[in-house]
Amino acid sequence: MRVLVLHGPNLNLLGEREPEIYGMQTLAEIDATIRTAATELSVDVRSEQHGSEGAIIEALHAARGNCDGAILNPGAYAHYSYAIADAIAAIGIPVIEVHLSNIAAREAFRRTSVTAAACRGTISGLGARGYVLALRALTELLSK
Ligand code: DQA
Repeated sequence: MRVLVLHGPNLNLLGEREPEIYGMQTLAEIDATIRTAATELSVDVRSEQHGSEGAIIEALHAARGNCDGAILNPGAYAHYSYAIADAIAAIGIPVIEVHLSNIAAREAFRRTSVTAAACRGTISGLGARGYVLALRALTELLSK
């Protein structure tokens, strides 16, 4: 089972960026935790971080045919990128959206995710453990 983990804009600054909201862990530390969980689950996982909408869309397209599922934190693109939502719908593999923070409890513009509507499910507000939970959920969904 192959799973792509896609981190969107500004997530490369985790650990320094608003730690009271996003936590103290760096993206490298989060990716290491995901890799450990993937080994336990016998999943082949690859993580990428992209700052631009086009790069995220291209990575989703590349996952088509190469990956069985994907985990996506679109960052702020979640709130307005219909292009990313279309890409998720187009590739035909299950995508789980993850947000570190609880977007439902934040500013009004963050309470809507247009990309979540195209996803198989969403995990929001559970910090970095959300990625591990998403990986477990994908494994279950894909093995059925
Ligand atoms: C985020 C939430 C978004 O609103 C924000 O723009 C981010 C991070 C999260 O993981 O909580 O960049 O996706």
